[in-house]
Amino acid sequence: MSLSTGSMLDAIASELQEFERRLRETVHDDIGPMSEAMEHIVHAGGKRLRPALVMLSGLLGKPDIDRLYNLAMGIEFIHTATLIHDDLIDDAETRRGLATIHAMLGSDPAIIVGDYYFAKGANLCSSTGVPKINSVVSAAVMTICMGELLQLTSQRDYDQPLESYYRKIERKTAALLAASTYSGAILGGLDEPRQQAMQRYGRCLGTAFQIADDVLDYVATADQLGKPVGADLRQGTITLPLMYALKDGKVAPELRQILSDDALTDSQYEEVVRLVRDSSAVTRAERDAHDFADKARAELAAFAPSRERETLAGLCDYVVERRR
Ligand code: IPE
Ligand code: IPE
Ligand code: MG
Ligand code: MG
Repeated sequence: MSLSTGSMLDAIASELQEFERRLRETVHDDIGPMSEAMEHIVHAGGKRLRPALVMLSGLLGKPDIDRLYNLAMGIEFIHTATLIHDDLIDDAETRRGLATIHAMLGSDPAIIVGDYYFAKGANLCSSTGVPKINSVVSAAVMTICMGELLQLTSQRDYDQPLESYYRKIERKTAALLAASTYSGAILGGLDEPRQQAMQRYGRCLGTAFQIADDVLDYVATADQLGKPVGADLRQGTITLPLMYALKDGKVAPELRQILSDDALTDSQYEEVVRLVRDSSAVTRAERDAHDFADKARAELAAFAPSRERETLAGLCDYVVERRR
């Protein structure tokens, strides 16, 4: 299900429909095996949050609409490429309810398909003809790689400071949402202070979005997520809910006891998930997500009322209330 199936994105419903048509057409035009791999993951859906952010930010101003579609598509391809590589690194079996690319085709093709779509995404973004957009988007990709690397080098580090967690999620997730809103605002021809307000909006929204994702990993069902629950922990990734649970005296001693084992069994993983769910951690993490969503919303004060602004405000509620 994409976000556009709800009423939340009514303001740009026709643009998102046209976006989807162009996205499918672009993927279809690629050569055989490349297009098949990408069609699989593109047709599986995805919320299309980043393209929606590009379109909304651009439409706050007066963009060249074809260029705006290309930018939205370019960023969605980059996002999809990060997912293909992220799933390979995490050895994840499913994504968007379907088999992952590496599970289907093997790791070598997954690396190549991911690389191809990073470059294709960059190529589409550069077709906007605005050098600053190239620089914003390429810097975001560098930042995402840093975030993923930091995550990799801090596996099972249960006592890392909250600051490290925030540094990682700002890089691996918030950077691309910020690039979406910032580059959309540039293409819309907004003045510099408003471009920067949109960049900050995207960064705060992205941080709230990733905290919510990390909470869902503990509290949602696999059906809702299209991927297994508790996956972060199994991959050794320590996220905010577990970090807060380890500070909750009610469950911390038992958690530490379980986590001190070198290799956890399935039932131990399930026990950790249960302890985190039963602790104060979920509420605390949700409160942090709300704080970031509120900061994002506050940035919209720089804009006159419009359907786009209302929709961007609605997304601040959506990111913390979503169930998938
Ligand atoms: C998944 O992003 C990766 C994260 C940053 C949590 P989305 O949740 O936006 O993935 P899709 O595109 O909707 O599948
Ligand atoms: C998002 O992080 C990955 C990237 C931004 C590359 P997650 O690892 O939390 O995403 P999921 O949970 O696999 O969707
Ligand atoms: Mg992952
Ligand atoms: Mg996750």
